Amino acid sequence: MEIAVTDGDISRFEADAIVVNLLEGTEDLSGNLAIIDAALDGGISNLITQGELKGKFGENTLIHSLGKLPGTRVVVAGLGKESELTQDKIRGIVAGTCRMLRDKNVKSLATIAQGAGVNGITYEAAAQAIVEGALLGLYTFRRHITKDPEHGEIERLTIVESDRSNIAALEQGYRKGEVLAGATILARDMVNEPSNYMTPTDMAREASKVAADYGLAVEILEKEQMEELGMGALLGVARGSHQPPKFIILRYKGRDTEEIDITLAGKAITFDSGGISLKPSANMDDMKGDMSGGAAVIAAMAAIAQLKPGVNVMALIPATENLPGGSALKPADVLTSMEGKTIEIISTDAEGRLILADALGYARKHSTKRVVDVATLTGACVVALGTVTTGVFGNNQELIDQIVTAGSEAGEKMWQMPIFDEYKEQNKSAVADIKNTGGRDAGAITAALFVGEFAGDTPWVHLDIAGTNMIDKTRKYETKGATGVPVRTLVNLVVSLAGK
Ligand code: BES
Ligand code: MN
Ligand code: ZN
Repeated sequence: MEIAVTDGDISRFEADAIVVNLLEGTEDLSGNLAIIDAALDGGISNLITQGELKGKFGENTLIHSLGKLPGTRVVVAGLGKESELTQDKIRGIVAGTCRMLRDKNVKSLATIAQGAGVNGITYEAAAQAIVEGALLGLYTFRRHITKDPEHGEIERLTIVESDRSNIAALEQGYRKGEVLAGATILARDMVNEPSNYMTPTDMAREASKVAADYGLAVEILEKEQMEELGMGALLGVARGSHQPPKFIILRYKGRDTEEIDITLAGKAITFDSGGISLKPSANMDDMKGDMSGGAAVIAAMAAIAQLKPGVNVMALIPATENLPGGSALKPADVLTSMEGKTIEIISTDAEGRLILADALGYARKHSTKRVVDVATLTGACVVALGTVTTGVFGNNQELIDQIVTAGSEAGEKMWQMPIFDEYKEQNKSAVADIKNTGGRDAGAITAALFVGEFAGDTPWVHLDIAGTNMIDKTRKYETKGATGVPVRTLVNLVVSLAGK
């Protein structure tokens, strides 16, 4: 889809549809609405009087202009109550309108800067939300469907603004929205891809492509190098599969020093069968998405490389399958992690924390100032927070707060969970330094504490996205399947660190 910002009068704009807004409870039309209403001989105000058009959040009213305007159709999109409008709601409103129009075979649409000026929403924030809402809300994954879709595609979206002094802000917002949505879509594409098309080797190729496209340094460690580094935990998980594991490293340099300001580590189990501790077959197909953390980190690096914040970022993506092959890891086995800690395996299905242990070991060896890991780590987190909220765990309140704020800007909901020392008791092993499961109680917390053990004193945050990485029903601008969470949060975080 082509996106543009232009100055002009939307009532004179030629498109298959022009989109204007109505706040709930508006009685007297003004501005664009009044002009369009007059052109339509009171077509909008009549609907309001009759009670058909209310301006409720998410309401889309379609009126054919029948030659009275250059725009073939007028859509009045409800913004809901003025006091409740947020930037994130604009994303959802735009997504809904765009899908409705796509189903009607609309190819070109023009919109006003929806929500700008309401409730402190800036023109920049509005444009960003419109672009993210449209691109993310229209997303589909059809790579393996050979039949043509029933709907066409919207080819052009133009934001039309009559006050020239707002154009620069709108352009800035739309560029940021395009980069963030593009990265989110990259993550969604990787996650939606089945595991036979997204092996560790495929992930390494995706990362190399991002590096080449946007100018990042890339390094792919092979099994032999992992052996030299002593990544026994990652190699233990990889043993059950014929697919070679990959340890993917991306580096972004935003300032002139060797210091690493932040490391992003993403779990990339390209398929999690559970290994010898085999999962039940119901919904096992969802486990193609167990590389969502790694995909999010690769995609975030693509956006970071385009936005160019003044910080140095390292991305680490340990990638392997978790399968029950003949050489597979077994319960009661003991593994030695990169930094020397020994791990007793209780369940081979608690594999994510094992590969993260070695990623954090690598991060610490390269003395990173902070580390954030992202992982579809536990079913327990899904039980606690569902598909709505990502669980946030960490040893540094400042970094936790920064991430929660970055998430709220992105519209990606985050909630801090406790990691009190008392829970550590559950991870104690009689035969090794630590064991890889802490029992059923507080499963998301004991998993986080296991990972935190390998972060040591480095300020660290762990994001458990087991519930938020995929959804089975379209919800606002998140379409069925992969959500791309938390790509936009990670990018916002890195950008905010650069501002300090
Ligand atoms: N990848 C799963 C967690 C998961 C579950 C993600 C559901 C998305 C949806 C992880 O590797 C896993 O299997 N965790 C186990 C840990 C247990 C064995 C301690 C779990 O949560 O059941
Ligand atoms: Mn597992
Ligand atoms: Zn897993």
